[in-house]
Amino acid sequence: MGSNENQAVVYQVYLRSFRDADGDGVGDLPGLCEGLPAIADLGCDAIWLNPCYPSPQKDHGYDIADYRSIDPRFGTLDDFDALVDQAHRLGLKVFMDMVANHCSSQHPWFRQALAAPADSPVRRRFLFRDGRGDQGQEPPNNWESVFGGPAWTRTTDADGRPGQWYLHSFDSAQPDFNWRDPAVAAEFESVLAFWFDRGVDGFRIDVAHGNVKDQELPDCAPGHNYAMWDQPEVHQIYRSWRSVADSYQPPRYLVGEIWLPESSSLSAYLRDDELDQAFDFGLLIQPWNGPRMRQAVEAGLAQAGGTLPAWVLSNHDVHRAATRYGQEQCLDRPEPTDMIAAARRQGPVDLALGTRRARAVAALVLALPGAVFLYQGEELGLPEVLDLPDEARQDPIWLRSQGRELGRDGCRVPLPWTAGQASNDGFSPTGAAPAWLPQPAIFAGLNRQAQDSDPWSTLSVYRSLIKARRAMFGDDPGIAWLESPPATLALRRGDGVCVVNFGEQTVALPDSWRPDALVSTCPMDWPLLPPDSACWLKAGEGRH
Ligand code: NOJ
Repeated sequence: MGSNENQAVVYQVYLRSFRDADGDGVGDLPGLCEGLPAIADLGCDAIWLNPCYPSPQKDHGYDIADYRSIDPRFGTLDDFDALVDQAHRLGLKVFMDMVANHCSSQHPWFRQALAAPADSPVRRRFLFRDGRGDQGQEPPNNWESVFGGPAWTRTTDADGRPGQWYLHSFDSAQPDFNWRDPAVAAEFESVLAFWFDRGVDGFRIDVAHGNVKDQELPDCAPGHNYAMWDQPEVHQIYRSWRSVADSYQPPRYLVGEIWLPESSSLSAYLRDDELDQAFDFGLLIQPWNGPRMRQAVEAGLAQAGGTLPAWVLSNHDVHRAATRYGQEQCLDRPEPTDMIAAARRQGPVDLALGTRRARAVAALVLALPGAVFLYQGEELGLPEVLDLPDEARQDPIWLRSQGRELGRDGCRVPLPWTAGQASNDGFSPTGAAPAWLPQPAIFAGLNRQAQDSDPWSTLSVYRSLIKARRAMFGDDPGIAWLESPPATLALRRGDGVCVVNFGEQTVALPDSWRPDALVSTCPMDWPLLPPDSACWLKAGEGRH
């Protein structure tokens, strides 16, 4: 098992939007190398790189055409080796993204399968089926793609006639593997070893609960499709990956992206011989509300069983935190299947308010035991870009819903490093092509350089939180809730206390809490904690 990763702060790099070194308007590995010191300076322990393998980029890298190389848009394998080297020199571990539920329709296996007859063994690596209806004109079952529309696409045979259908849980450019075919399992063990041998420290596993489908592929009733997810056979995959990861010294780390309607089944994925950790999205989907957040923290800690949660407040699939907390807060609990949609709401935004709250929730999550995955740009307090021009949008969710859903482009807009139009706000070198998604004017003011020297910028607050985290709370795996003033939450972990003020009034903290060390998300005049803010307190021996 990976060990200290379980309490790491991991910076999520959405490579195409992090930093562009070659001036094509798309982020790349040399750009990431240039920006690594900024990640190390923030106090992070590791980076997680979204997929950067060769890919037609229909789902921005989650459609992989070659699992053993780097997309030329992002660089070369040599650039990747240089990145791992530099990251390690800076004390940062490197986690990659493993997408094993599906590949790209351009992957050689899928092309081979398309070219082969219906009963060919090479088709068995995917989920090809005959259609229903007398001409096979209806999809084999009624499953829907997560991105909208049917989960099946019909193929055309060599003679031009309509042929079998193949299953894709996501876009039609992302055919699902058939994990019941031993060739698939063997291939992925070899892919993992390929990257571990190059020094990669671990993997984040995409839709880890999805790889195996119910063998019968039955129709589903409206609502949750139980046959599509969380099948018992999926655990065999992670047992075998665990043994690959454990054959290295130190053992490599595996964290799963797992969405389950019954969160109690999460612990099965976290048994000793499976994954180190699973993402916890419980906090991400909560509104700005103390009791709800407390409940989510408790549930997260309980579900992680013998491990600790890998907390997520934001990622490349949901609206940015400053925007979410600046919107009207919905207190009705979303259905599990709608969780992600609930984190992609539209509506008026009070960004100043949302930013203060986002910092306070960051203080809460960074006080907790477990790993914290921090999505790039959150440390700058970037807002969701809700008004991207239609023609700039690229997300398959936008395309497949014919624009009914905005999708995820708005949290993927390239980062501002310095102010300056000629360089895409410092994302690119001067005179580069326009950034792949246009940056709104507000990004210039939130650039990293300007925030660096402002002690109360979001960046400075994040930096002081991340740097103080271990000193405040140690590695204690447990928390205790403290009685605290109305509308606040207070928890103790190790020698540290975290207090969040969810109310609309400034509150006076108990004098007995007077700390020897204090970190806060806005200027604080002890003992007064303003609304929409949080602080960390550490007292000397014997207090609290
Ligand atoms: C989850 C990833 O986070 C998301 O970005 C992607 O579209 C889907 N899995 C499909 O791979």
